[in-house]
Amino acid sequence: MSETVRGVIARSKGAPVEIVDVVVPDPGPHDVIVRVQACGVCHTDLHYREGGINDEFPFLLGHEAAGVVETVGDAVTHVAEGDFVILNWRAVCGECRACKRGRPWYCFTSHNASKKMTLADGTELSPALGIGAFIDKTLVHEGQCTKVDPETDPAVAGLLGCGVMAGIGAAMNTGNVARGDTVAVIGCGGVGDAAIAGARLAGAKTIIAIDRDDRKLAWATEFGATHTVNASTDDVVTRIKELTDSFGADVVIDAVGRPETWKQAFYGRDLAGTVVLVGVPTPDMGLDMPLVDLFSHGGALKSSWYGDCLPERDFPMLIDLYHQGRLPLERFVTERITLDQVERAFDAMHAGAVLRSVVVL
Ligand SMILES: NC(=O)c1ccc[n+]([C@@H]2O[C@H](COP(=O)([O-])OP(=O)(O)OC[C@H]3O[C@@H](n4cnc5c(N)ncnc54)[C@H](O)[C@@H]3O)[C@@H](O)[C@H]2O)c1
Ligand SMILES: [Zn+2]
Ligand SMILES: [Zn+2]
Repeated sequence: MSETVRGVIARSKGAPVEIVDVVVPDPGPHDVIVRVQACGVCHTDLHYREGGINDEFPFLLGHEAAGVVETVGDAVTHVAEGDFVILNWRAVCGECRACKRGRPWYCFTSHNASKKMTLADGTELSPALGIGAFIDKTLVHEGQCTKVDPETDPAVAGLLGCGVMAGIGAAMNTGNVARGDTVAVIGCGGVGDAAIAGARLAGAKTIIAIDRDDRKLAWATEFGATHTVNASTDDVVTRIKELTDSFGADVVIDAVGRPETWKQAFYGRDLAGTVVLVGVPTPDMGLDMPLVDLFSHGGALKSSWYGDCLPERDFPMLIDLYHQGRLPLERFVTERITLDQVERAFDAMHAGAVLRSVVVL
């Protein structure tokens, strides 16, 4: 029997989000219903609301979540009722070309629920990143549930489900930051600060935090930045060079995702270094630069989707590091809010007042 619960949707481009009744169908054979306990507000939710991802409105927003498995489909073996899980948007299939080549973080056919959640009138919802977790209960594929230590605060655990994992992985997996490296991170929101924390875990010796907002730079220091640069007053490339013996950084991570920040990352990088783009550009953005500069600078230009993570490998490991006091995940939670405060949380994000607002249910 389907169930009706409260969920937060973006009905049309740019319109404020609304709380509405959402019908959650019975799980299909490999589906699971998860009672959501906490879900962080990510910049990607705002990109969806603004039509920056695609036009498949209405969206059911929210995707950085943790909760408890409530009901499982007939064929589910991966989790059981009562399990504490982080939801992920990379439930690797094991069958596609990427999976078979041993690169499952590029999986083309990551699993999602077999049925759609709908509005009361039957209109199908597009769940953000195949999850949709600003809702009392959500329907996902069993592979989208990763079991972690149940002694973890859901508001903290859920953040690994997207932005924090994307940032840590951008440094550790995509950027391959190694002991003694110099690293610069442009944009110190939740994703950028997670990249800073990841760079510290990997043993970087210099970590340069770059943002336009001094509050963000102060927080970045708490995650491990050794130097800070205010991009609204200083020339970013010049400062990175000054702080790296004029070489440029070994790894520069763009956690904003705009042409100007990507160019700063490119020119602030050591010749043989790596640029990692983890911030998400919008479709209207382009890049115009001399091709010869790309040739003459060498090195690697990479994009990082979800930090090239494998949830089953990485989430439990990072939760363990958190419990050992080596990864301050709790510092990402700036405020705890209710389901009706998501729109306000977008304003707070815009104002730079938060790293993460987390909806607690
Ligand atoms: N690739 C992925 O898998 C993935 C996953 C999650 C989020 N993201 C993306 O990462 C980006 C960051 O997400 P977030 O949640 O940290 O957002 P956020 O809004 O919390 O943080 C962005 C930060 O960038 C700073 N900033 C903006 N413009 C800047 C500029 N020109 N120079 C320097 N700093 C600037 C802001 O002050 C802010 O601190 C977003 O584009 C989001 O969609 C990507
Ligand atoms: Zn696959
Ligand atoms: Zn996200």
